[in-house]
Amino acid sequence: MEQVTLTIDGQAVTVAAGTTVLAAARSLGIHVPTLCHDPDLTSEGSCRLCVVHVAGARTLMPACVTAVMPGMVVQTAAPEVVEARRTIIELLLANHPNDCLTCERAGTCALQEAAYAYGVRFPEAGSPLAGEKHQWPPDESNPMLLRDMNKCILCGKCVRACAEWQQRHVLDFGFRGFATKIVADMDQDLIGSSCVYCGACLTVCPTGALLDRRSIGRGRPWEREHVRTTCGYCGTGCQFD
Ligand code: FES
Repeated sequence: MEQVTLTIDGQAVTVAAGTTVLAAARSLGIHVPTLCHDPDLTSEGSCRLCVVHVAGARTLMPACVTAVMPGMVVQTAAPEVVEARRTIIELLLANHPNDCLTCERAGTCALQEAAYAYGVRFPEAGSPLAGEKHQWPPDESNPMLLRDMNKCILCGKCVRACAEWQQRHVLDFGFRGFATKIVADMDQDLIGSSCVYCGACLTVCPTGALLDRRSIGRGRPWEREHVRTTCGYCGTGCQFD
């Protein structure tokens, strides 16, 4: 297999052609933050949090969808990279409920983690980024999943998990512009859609937009004890931890 040598943050690395800059950086132990990337899903490069500086490129490049090139010189923490990531996080927070203290995902939310890591707070009133926030009612129509699209960052991981892992294609992007949201079967409540509550979307959601209703109010994930159990949903009796 063809090999490509490049430099990331001053370190030379040789990887297979076609490898992404993100994967090459991670092979060196370099942390590049991500929100829409999952190694088990196709990458779409939608959140832009993983941007890096590539010498000679006219714009910052999303590391998760940029393939390595011979002689590439990449900086993952250049000042303009950090500034861009801070702006991206602030833009996401600008249309996100300011309820981290009580959110079920507090402590396991990737957006919260990024905000802490980059020292970004919710835009104050008067900030150029402060503005209208979505006020959609949460979808509590079914007993398994709670969907709160006000906390969705449109990373699309749930859409890809539904399509690529389960071949269901229940979820998709709907509407346009500020009204864009993830919809189930042309914007049905989950209970009226063709969702089978497999939970694939739940496992990849980076924020509190999708929650397992059975775990709500039962403590933070690190406070819970994991036991082997039998799922009683479909009668097959699958066991999981
Ligand atoms: Fe690369 Fe979202 S993680 S664009």
